[in-house]
Amino acid sequence: MKAAVYRQNGGPEVLSFEEIADPVPGDDEVLIKVEAISLEGGDLLNRQMLPLPMSPHVVGYGSAGTVVAVGAQVTDLRVGQRVSAFGEYGSHAELRAVRADHCWVLPDGADAAAAACVPVAFGTAYEALFEQANVTADSTVLVQGAGGGVGLAAVQLAAKAGARVIGTASSREQLDALRRFGLTDGIDYRTEDVRQRVLELTDGVGVDLAVDPVGGPMTQELVLATRHGGHVILLGGSAGAPTTIDATTLPRGNRTLSGFMLSGMFGTPRVHGYVAELIGRVADGELEVVIDRAFPLSAAVDAHRYAEQRGRIGRVVMVP
Ligand SMILES: NC(=O)c1ccc[n+]([C@@H]2O[C@H](COP(=O)([O-])OP(=O)(O)OC[C@H]3O[C@@H](n4cnc5c(N)ncnc54)[C@H](OP(=O)(O)O)[C@@H]3O)[C@@H](O)[C@H]2O)c1
Repeated sequence: MKAAVYRQNGGPEVLSFEEIADPVPGDDEVLIKVEAISLEGGDLLNRQMLPLPMSPHVVGYGSAGTVVAVGAQVTDLRVGQRVSAFGEYGSHAELRAVRADHCWVLPDGADAAAAACVPVAFGTAYEALFEQANVTADSTVLVQGAGGGVGLAAVQLAAKAGARVIGTASSREQLDALRRFGLTDGIDYRTEDVRQRVLELTDGVGVDLAVDPVGGPMTQELVLATRHGGHVILLGGSAGAPTTIDATTLPRGNRTLSGFMLSGMFGTPRVHGYVAELIGRVADGELEVVIDRAFPLSAAVDAHRYAEQRGRIGRVVMVP
């Protein structure tokens, strides 16, 4: 099969489109002929810095396609079904072997590119808003990096729940465009003081919950922009800078800072169940996966380079 591989960490240029051996599914896995690949923020970070589990390495979390073989112990999937799939690696290829309990059967006619983008971004946003926190119509939520994959999913899900949604992004154009998805108030974190603006917007109270996929020095500002008893959920580190806070700012405001990694949880019935519902909500058109741009997998270098540009909204996808 053809795949975009690398043999050392680095910038997009380490990727090389090559012929490598087809993956062989294990007993609890299925083999998928990939139709679409979601280029996740985590894929970019993994390419830059995660030690390679093998060489050449095929990076990538999310893709969707058609089951072409099933392992001996797989009873609930069959050849010919279209699925969205998550794996710790392997999305950037024409074929991938993934655990059957990390697959979701697509509704008839579902768009493969949109479905590929749901489990990681929408799953993570859902877990943060409704499982780790309890967002309702009475909540005020701050979403850091609201134009990113996880950020835009969080904006939509919080807005659908009736919450007030304040978002940050690096340009006014992004923030204006995000209003269509339910963003109530936008803060340009390149030019505005986020903490001060949040306090102005909330009559000095602060938000109930801040969802932070970006990290870096801004996380401290988010802590101070939450209300007394508020909650910050740290999800990642797109900022690429150390995330350090003064821990005493937590007890001083009775605040909670927490984090989780969804990748180890997809096989649980709880997470598998709500990801299936999210895929259905996207297929029904109630939630929208915004695809910024599609590239052929053979142009993975260009796709990664483009995805690293700031100021975008939504996902970059690749097609084998
Ligand atoms: N914990 C979990 O289970 C989990 C699950 C999924 C993802 N994540 C993590 O969450 C993070 C976001 O993932 P994603 O898929 O949403 O990524 P993405 O689509 O690439 O979005 C990244 C966002 O970060 C913002 N950003 C701020 N400073 C940045 C910088 N210096 N460089 C690049 N982007 C910057 C960008 O917004 P602007 O351009 O507007 O600044 C963009 O909206 C990643 O660190 C990922 O690993 C964690």
